Amino acid sequence: MEPQLLTHPIAQAMLTRLRQKSTSSLEFRHLVRQLTVQLGLEATQDLPTVPHTIQTPVATCSGVVLDASVAIVPILRAGIGMAEPLIEMMPDAVVRHLGLFRDEKTLKPVTYYEKLPGGHLPDICLVVDPMLATGGTAIAAMQLLRNWGAVDIRFLAILGAPEGVAALRDADPDVRIYLAGLDDRLNERGYIIPGLGDAGDRQYNTL
Ligand code: URA
Repeated sequence: MEPQLLTHPIAQAMLTRLRQKSTSSLEFRHLVRQLTVQLGLEATQDLPTVPHTIQTPVATCSGVVLDASVAIVPILRAGIGMAEPLIEMMPDAVVRHLGLFRDEKTLKPVTYYEKLPGGHLPDICLVVDPMLATGGTAIAAMQLLRNWGAVDIRFLAILGAPEGVAALRDADPDVRIYLAGLDDRLNERGYIIPGLGDAGDRQYNTL
């Protein structure tokens, strides 16, 4: 499936501020949250609802509640900043953390934390990681989730590289990919160009 991109002018202006080298860590985290809200809305357009009647201060009102179980799956550590706004949007969602880091030499993913309990599986998994670079980490996360039994998986990232998008689509064609922006390429160190640098370091001020 082709990745779905945010095209809204406000999203594009936010992405530009996010990329800017001089943007503070505080503003960077804020922009990640704001962009994730927009990605989250795109990625959940088809969530089912059921009617739900409530009482406003002045009248009875027919509304809806969500009728799907959602797991938000942040890839540690950079994905945490994207998980928070999604939990606020869907307070009944569960969070399943996956600890995967990219070995700086081999650029291959290493799993260091994985707790996917048996029992009830969510209807939808929203995997969040700000950068879809080589795709190695995303593919490893998909394999863990598929082995767990997840069927409907959606991958949300702020930026993607064409190499990472192609690798993820080849490895798992059924994953739906949502990006705020799709960049030009990867450099020899696996960074997205023009990109925004290291999304974890910029969120947590560990440059
Ligand atoms: N991870 C990042 O944080 N930035 C990149 O450019 C690539 C991977």
